[in-house]
Amino acid sequence: MLHDLLLILTLTTTQGVLANPNDPPPPLDLPTPPPAVCVHNANQRKSLLADMMHDYDKTVVPSNESIHVNVEMTVQDISSISEITSSFVADVWFSQVWTDERLEYRNLSCKTNLSLDSSVSDKLWTPNVCFVNSKKTEVHKSPAANVLLIIYPNGTVWLNYRVRVMGPCKMDLTNFPMDHQDCDLVFESYSYNTAEVRLYWQPWSPVTVPSPDDFRLPDFQFSNVSWERNEEYYTAGQWDQLKVTFSFKRLYGYYILQMYLPTYLSVFISWIAFWIDSRALPARITLGVSSLMALTFQFGNVVKNLPRVSYVKAIDLWFFVCVAFIFLSLVELAVVGFVDKIADINEQSKRIKRERQQYRRKQQKLMLKSRTTRLSQPAPSPLFPRSSSVKPNHVHLRRESSVEVEAETPLFANGAGSRPSTFTNEDVNLTTLRSAGFVLGEISQPDMLIRMPGQLGSRVDSACAKLFPATFAFFNVIYWWYYLTRGKAA
Ligand SMILES: *[C@@H]1O[C@H](CO)[C@@H](O)[C@H](O)[C@H]1NC(C)=O
Ligand SMILES: *[C@@H]1O[C@H](CO)[C@@H](O)[C@H](O)[C@H]1NC(C)=O
Ligand SMILES: *[C@@H]1O[C@H](CO)[C@@H](O)[C@H](O)[C@H]1NC(C)=O
Ligand SMILES: *[C@@H]1O[C@H](CO)[C@@H](O)[C@H](O)[C@H]1NC(C)=O
Ligand SMILES: *[C@@H]1O[C@H](CO)[C@@H](O)[C@H](O)[C@H]1NC(C)=O
Repeated sequence: MLHDLLLILTLTTTQGVLANPNDPPPPLDLPTPPPAVCVHNANQRKSLLADMMHDYDKTVVPSNESIHVNVEMTVQDISSISEITSSFVADVWFSQVWTDERLEYRNLSCKTNLSLDSSVSDKLWTPNVCFVNSKKTEVHKSPAANVLLIIYPNGTVWLNYRVRVMGPCKMDLTNFPMDHQDCDLVFESYSYNTAEVRLYWQPWSPVTVPSPDDFRLPDFQFSNVSWERNEEYYTAGQWDQLKVTFSFKRLYGYYILQMYLPTYLSVFISWIAFWIDSRALPARITLGVSSLMALTFQFGNVVKNLPRVSYVKAIDLWFFVCVAFIFLSLVELAVVGFVDKIADINEQSKRIKRERQQYRRKQQKLMLKSRTTRLSQPAPSPLFPRSSSVKPNHVHLRRESSVEVEAETPLFANGAGSRPSTFTNEDVNLTTLRSAGFVLGEISQPDMLIRMPGQLGSRVDSACAKLFPATFAFFNVIYWWYYLTRGKAA
């Protein structure tokens, strides 16, 4: 019983294993195979291609009417935008789709599409769509040419290339660095005019650009893409032209950090001079000149990497105005110095006049007195009252320069004995002293020796300390408002 069962089992298994492949398949649970499954082996493919290419002449245009070619483009990456060469580099896929009735294989094969490579595309007629405005274009070869060719049963051919294209950008740097740049690519059929080939954008999504997060340029932000179709007239005839324009917005953060903030500092530093004493000329000049040099250096660094355009850029305007502010602060310094000098001269000539009058009056008094009393011994000079703590009969010398203020005080404190040069009343010749740059000072009026600070000069300083920041703030408001709104509108 058990033996019989085993025999039946082995019989059935050997029957299954040894079944002839040519026999009709054993009835399974599945119904008849679905008709969609298309058997297409290497031989069939070879004969299909041979049939299609039989009598095919690639120099003959597929139709006696103009051929409708759809163009589609997908941007893979935009890798760089250069101001110097006015160009951008992009990796794109672009497709040309047309119908060639000679390649129909509806009745020859059950396949719904036939994918082929560049070796076949070389043998076919193609509309020869190319980038007519590119500076350089190359089909990626990694390692073979990146060409995709699909032929559909109804004769529609889809030819796709992956290329790296360097296209032009209309570099308008008027708003630099708050600028927008437009870069465009133009498609044309290089060989065929509108009589043979009509170019159209693919009706659905003709240009695909990855989301801005997927490709990030260091200094630009992708903002928009637009496309249009034109007809161009050349001497050789009329051509269809497809144009795609990419818009980019410059990220000006770099220039804020590298140019605007340092120049703000330079301008602010030049204003410190207004709070420094107007007599401290070297310190004030150093501030002005060093901030001017720092500004020029910063600007040179930024402009070095820009093309030498001959119109005024936003950054040039900024630089000129900052230089003007620093320059004016230096001019203000000169004005303050000059005003101080004039004030000093006026003050001194007034004093000299007064002193001379005083001296004459006292001389006359003295002469009157000596005439009336006729004393044998010379009387103490009436110039110096007896109450004065300092030895009378001497005049004190003082130089006319501001730097000498400190030097005079010890002279004064040391007392008359240590004075380097003393004159008796009779020796004093005011005119010669004045011409030698000395001014007669009286010891009885010690406050006259301490120079008053330039009243007008310090007034000019305090006015400029308000005027300069106010004007600069006003300029800033106008500048940023103008260029930021212009940048947005562009
Ligand atoms: C194109 O050729 C077909 C015949 O093959 C003809 O009927 C048709 O008029 C031609 N068209 C033009 C524009 O010549
Ligand atoms: C394909 O076959 C259909 C009939 O099945 C026929 O009408 C058509 O003309 C054939 N097409 C070609 C290109 O031979
Ligand atoms: C191309 O043909 C294959 C089968 O041969 C099919 O799976 C695929 O969907 C077809 N592709 C298109 C775009 O028709
Ligand atoms: C041919 O077939 C493809 C794919 O099925 C289709 O996209 C295309 O529009 C067809 N072309 C024509 C001229 O019918
Ligand atoms: C993109 O460009 C198109 C065509 O120039 C325009 O209509 C659209 O408003 C622009 N979009 C943006 C976000 O700027």
